[in-house]
Amino acid sequence: MVETVKEEGMGSGRSQSLLRQGFAGQKPQKLSEVKHIEKNRLKSGYEEFDRVMGGGIVPGSTTLLAGDPGIGKSTLLLHVLAKSGGLYVSGEESAEQIKLRAKRLGINGENIAILAETSVESIVQVLSSNHELGTRNLEENKKNPNSLFIIHNSLVIIDSIQTLSSSDLDGMAGSVGQIRHAAEILVHVAKTRGIPLMIIGHVTKEGTIAGPKVLEHMVDTVLYLEGERFADARILRTFKNRFGPTEEVGIFEMSESGLKEVTNPSALFLQDRVKNVPGSVVTVVLEGTRPMLVEIQALVAPTQLPVPRRVANGIDYNRLQLLVAILQKRLSLPLGTFDVFVNVSGGLRVSEPAADLAVIMAILSSFKNRALDYKTAVFGEVGLLGEVRSIDSEERRAKEARRLGFNTIVSPKTVRNVKQAAGHLDN
Ligand code: TYD
Ligand code: MG
Repeated sequence: MVETVKEEGMGSGRSQSLLRQGFAGQKPQKLSEVKHIEKNRLKSGYEEFDRVMGGGIVPGSTTLLAGDPGIGKSTLLLHVLAKSGGLYVSGEESAEQIKLRAKRLGINGENIAILAETSVESIVQVLSSNHELGTRNLEENKKNPNSLFIIHNSLVIIDSIQTLSSSDLDGMAGSVGQIRHAAEILVHVAKTRGIPLMIIGHVTKEGTIAGPKVLEHMVDTVLYLEGERFADARILRTFKNRFGPTEEVGIFEMSESGLKEVTNPSALFLQDRVKNVPGSVVTVVLEGTRPMLVEIQALVAPTQLPVPRRVANGIDYNRLQLLVAILQKRLSLPLGTFDVFVNVSGGLRVSEPAADLAVIMAILSSFKNRALDYKTAVFGEVGLLGEVRSIDSEERRAKEARRLGFNTIVSPKTVRNVKQAAGHLDN
């Protein structure tokens, strides 16, 4: 149950009447005459980001960027804005704070306008007037240094939806009613004025976007920025995209001077790997359409507790339970008296069953205290009977592993069950 404020006077509020004056309703038009959006996509030139968006940001579309506090949402969008130019509306930080961050990122901000504002009405007023504020790109700006620009068609960032409030409602900023109302108005303005709009949203402890569930339905694209706070890797994932594929991911690395694009993710995830230590197994996961190598680590240690501990970092806890049970049953491993810890290096979260076999091998390797050959890559789903099941894109995964010098591949093509796979630890 979520408390929501009764929306009295909806439709007669100031922002609503503003909308009504500003924009007459749309007229129906022939489908054949509708302009093709591909051409108009706003490219930020920040490649990982554009790719995730499906080739750039569509004017008039609204994108919600969600993520844990401190994960780098504001940083990411400031990078994007620096490339494409536009307006940054901040309800969280002052203009000085944003300036400080921009400096750290090496952005001089010539093409960025800042508006520190939390009132929905004031923001709508700025967005719907032909305010001269900045320019869509630096070139235009240089040609015409005095007139900054017209907001129409320039990127607008709202940071964040939870800080906005409308005088139409009594509820506090961040309440379900306020969030929904603010989003509704902003989406409408973006659509009618052709503004590419990006809204930052916080997530709750449970990992869902704070506020009403409808928020995700109201916007065109939902992105999640993920990662472990104290690891450097950040993954930008599409959860919904009305203008592009949802399986693309962008990979970034948080550094001293902002988010850097990562073109060779495997290198990032394997950089700290130690040679020939039991409990380490490299697997190949698919992020979107990209195969990448990550290290799965396991530690098996005698337990002090009546019920042994199972700790899963980066993989699903129930999946770990299942894989431990398979090891107990199919390989007669006495794990009932051992704690099992599993970790995915680099702060990556792996949800594919394709990592099953690697997790099993890592646990086995730690239990037996025998290291797997350093240049071995392992992937494959493991069934309840201990059989190794085939997975998608096996050839692509194997190819990527070979490209990075992994000359032994343990996969559904080379082993049929966990017993056979375990054989790789004996030679
Ligand atoms: P931020 O973008 O403010 O996160 P969000 O908007 O998602 O809350 O980034 C927060 C963290 O990122 C902060 O703890 C410091 C770190 N950071 C860097 O490591 N390098 C940088 O260049 C910047 C700007 C931030
Ligand atoms: Mg922020």
